[in-house]
Amino acid sequence: MQTQQALSGLSRSVPPLLLLLLLCSTSASGFGSMGPISASFGKNGFFCAIDASGKQGVVCWGFNSSPSTSSSASSSSSASFSNIPAMAALSGGENFLCGILANTSQAYCWISVSPGIDLVPLPFKSTGYSHIAAGKSHVCAIRGSYYSDHEYGTVDCWEIFETSNRSLSSKQSTLFSDQAIANLVFKGVVSGEGFSCGAVRDGGLICWGPNSSNLGVSGPVLQNFTALASGRASVCGISDFGELNCWGDADLLDGHPNGTQYVSLAAGDHHYCGIRQDNHRVECWGMFNSSLIPKASGFMAIASSDYTTCGIREDDLVIDCWAANATSSPTDYDPPLELCSPGLCTPGSCGQGEFAFNASTLNEVDLTSLCVRKDLTICSSCGSNCSEGFFLSSSCTQHADRVCTACSLCQNSSCWDICGLQTPPEMRKKLWNHVRRLVIIFGSSALGFLLILICWCLLPRLTSQKKEGSKKQFKSCIGKAELEADNNEDPNPPPSVIPCPGIAQVFRLSELKDATNGFKEFNELGRGSFGFVYKAVLADGQQVAVKRANAATIIHTNSRDFEMELEVLSKIRHCNIVNLLGYCSEMGERLLVYEYMAHGTLYDHLHGGLSALNWSLRLKIAMQAAKGLEYLHKEFVPPIVHRNVKTLNILLDAEWSARIADFGLLTSNDRDLNGDLASDVYNFGVVLLEILSGRKAYDRDYTPPSVVEWALPLIKQNKAAAIIDRYIALPRNVEPLLKLADIAGLAIKENPTERPTMSDIASWLEHIVKDGLTL
Ligand SMILES: *[C@@H]1O[C@H](CO)[C@@H](O)[C@H](O)[C@H]1NC(C)=O
Ligand SMILES: *[C@@H]1O[C@H](CO)[C@@H](O)[C@H](O)[C@H]1NC(C)=O
Ligand SMILES: *[C@@H]1O[C@H](CO)[C@@H](O)[C@H](O)[C@H]1NC(C)=O
Ligand SMILES: *[C@@H]1O[C@H](CO)[C@@H](O)[C@H](O)[C@H]1NC(C)=O
Ligand SMILES: *[C@@H]1O[C@H](CO)[C@@H](O)[C@H](O)[C@H]1NC(C)=O
Ligand SMILES: *[C@@H]1O[C@H](CO)[C@@H](O)[C@H](O)[C@H]1NC(C)=O
Ligand SMILES: *[C@@H]1O[C@H](CO)[C@@H](O)[C@H](O)[C@H]1NC(C)=O
Ligand SMILES: *[C@@H]1O[C@H](CO)[C@@H](O)[C@H](O)[C@H]1NC(C)=O
Ligand SMILES: *[C@@H]1O[C@H](CO)[C@@H](O)[C@H](O)[C@H]1NC(C)=O
Ligand SMILES: *[C@@H]1O[C@H](CO)[C@@H](O)[C@H](O)[C@H]1NC(C)=O
Repeated sequence: MQTQQALSGLSRSVPPLLLLLLLCSTSASGFGSMGPISASFGKNGFFCAIDASGKQGVVCWGFNSSPSTSSSASSSSSASFSNIPAMAALSGGENFLCGILANTSQAYCWISVSPGIDLVPLPFKSTGYSHIAAGKSHVCAIRGSYYSDHEYGTVDCWEIFETSNRSLSSKQSTLFSDQAIANLVFKGVVSGEGFSCGAVRDGGLICWGPNSSNLGVSGPVLQNFTALASGRASVCGISDFGELNCWGDADLLDGHPNGTQYVSLAAGDHHYCGIRQDNHRVECWGMFNSSLIPKASGFMAIASSDYTTCGIREDDLVIDCWAANATSSPTDYDPPLELCSPGLCTPGSCGQGEFAFNASTLNEVDLTSLCVRKDLTICSSCGSNCSEGFFLSSSCTQHADRVCTACSLCQNSSCWDICGLQTPPEMRKKLWNHVRRLVIIFGSSALGFLLILICWCLLPRLTSQKKEGSKKQFKSCIGKAELEADNNEDPNPPPSVIPCPGIAQVFRLSELKDATNGFKEFNELGRGSFGFVYKAVLADGQQVAVKRANAATIIHTNSRDFEMELEVLSKIRHCNIVNLLGYCSEMGERLLVYEYMAHGTLYDHLHGGLSALNWSLRLKIAMQAAKGLEYLHKEFVPPIVHRNVKTLNILLDAEWSARIADFGLLTSNDRDLNGDLASDVYNFGVVLLEILSGRKAYDRDYTPPSVVEWALPLIKQNKAAAIIDRYIALPRNVEPLLKLADIAGLAIKENPTERPTMSDIASWLEHIVKDGLTL
């Protein structure tokens, strides 16, 4: 009664515009607000999220977080609840969750042990709702149809309580029925412990319920909020100006950020977290350990339970969870590897500063929308900046968020500053030094003549070796051992590194989770189209690399394809290949376990910050990489075509041996097999040029930017010495390097039929390495 009087009083004295309170909490999901991902609190707390299957199905996890969890919960910590109907939005209370049904807009509340039983009391079961907010032990919902544009309505509240036999039950609320509130029309609502707050259509934020007086919200609040969330005894909202306004529980709000814009908020028991508007990174305040917050990825939506926060990553829509403090076990809330919806499906078009999520970007054949109806869209807030280590490579459009690219891929001046790379003048100086050195070399005509002579002699040698090479029996492995001691011919690789061919060990998911610290980002070695790659230490101390398929990959390939790929992969064994050790296919996850490559990629040694490689190592690496490719091309019928030969896919193991990684699992479909093989040869030629010159395959700081366009004419003019990398000491005898240049020149011949085979190249390189290098 009082509140309504206060409101109408305000309407008279304040211009109506000022009373407008915008509440767009589409991806906000804390205790008490609604979103695509939500957490229930308490000892039987769990998380649920709307999946990205296009059916708006619900996936839940985290039931085993406490030993007191009911025994009827499955032994696994996550499950896709087939008996929860499709949902439009979710909101979590203590030990229960509620949602709005996707087809009828009716409310539905459930607990983890009996998700198929709807807890909504009878009087409210058939009503449609546009908004729902579960508090500690009550739910308030706004009447209306979820999928009609701008549906505002009156509010209904009901209580959820524990029965004598410790199951939950519900009834129409008397505690929350307030005549003044019952007559107001609301736009949005959040709920906490014993209170709810709603945004009134005509303006103002109003709180009610037995504990609402503790919040210290005196009358309606005249502000527009971009995000709103409620904790147990507090409410926070982010105003348009990025100002955080909170009411209630004072310790929670100590040291809260001021001036940062957030697009979404989530409240835990003793902390709040928000998604930053600019880079979509998560920041928290209150009691939490900031080192546990994922740094590498931005998020589309987050939800917090007592001590855990989970979010939908913006890069891949994969769920990631982290604890508020280091005392909680990292495996408390292991999320399933499901692709989840980045936001709520809404009718109408997206507003300014928002983009409509494009489901085609997930590469799933049948998936054109993540929503149950084609007229619905998921509108999310555009990012405007990237996290550290990434640069903004394209801005937000109507259908796509801004794109952040890793600084390791920074190619030109547009990203130098942000990535802290070499500035253009320095690069020009480097180029100029190159030129000056060239002038010095070719200034000496005697040396020039010598070089020409060497090349003249080399070509016939190469052709004779070619014949020899093709006759040569395939030998499984010429590794470091053989190079150092030629008489020690052991065709069998050490068993500790490479297990028997064709046998891939089956790993348990739990084993790999432990080995990767629960797939935490500090274990990430990199990310590719397949998913993330993690460094892992198995229980026996062995270091391995674990490739974890992302949800898009999983949706894209069925398990039969995966098994066929595994069959091929497990037959591939060679000491110049990153060999598959095993796999795991459990609970919808696909994981591949590979040998760990201690020294990273060839790319990082040639072009990145990692130690420069000396010439004898470079020659050896070239030869070993060629051996690896030769193996793929020669050992299999049909041959395995790599299709992506580049320095980033040549890794270096603990012994500095080169290993080929990341070959396409697609075997060639005879159509143009020779062409496919020749394309691997061409790309290997480019790798040789990079090894020789230290230049990237394509670098806009040089003219011409392509290493092939630059080097090939010089090689053809017998001026190959000009392309040799001057940043490491030249060997006394450059002949082996000139031979390398010639081999590269043959491999990048325009006409694919004129290119040598990988076997030719491997045996030529083997000769160069055996002849040795005088330093
Ligand atoms: C809505 O979905 C639920 C659960 O899938 C189903 O039981 C119900 O019949 C559907 N209602 C309508 C009107 O389609
Ligand atoms: C618990 O009690 C409710 C009624 O309060 C009843 O419907 C339910 O079946 C009971 N559950 C068990 C496991 O006894
Ligand atoms: C109000 O808050 C107190 C704790 O401050 C809590 O014990 C009580 O259960 C709350 N009331 C309701 C109705 O939730
Ligand atoms: C709230 O937003 C409306 C427009 O949506 C604007 O007219 C009004 O001035 C804003 N109020 C405040 C307090 O910023
Ligand atoms: C945030 O900072 C602005 C000035 O930068 C100040 O006016 C405002 O009072 C601050 N808000 C809070 C909640 O500290
Ligand atoms: C935060 O967590 C990290 C990682 O678990 C831990 O090393 C650090 O000691 C924790 N900091 C605090 C203040 O608890
Ligand atoms: C850390 O989390 C655990 C639950 O995982 C909780 O019991 C404990 O109180 C928390 N500690 C702090 C300092 O918040
Ligand atoms: C969605 O993405 C696909 C593939 O990335 C693209 O072809 C299509 O044009 C996009 N749709 C819109 C509406 O931008
Ligand atoms: C963008 O983020 C980077 C680092 O993450 C920061 O240095 C830079 O100042 C930010 N730019 C803007 C415009 O906020
Ligand atoms: C930098 O390179 C990107 C592609 O990598 C290109 O889109 C962009 O236009 C380039 N910018 C400049 C200033 O050359």
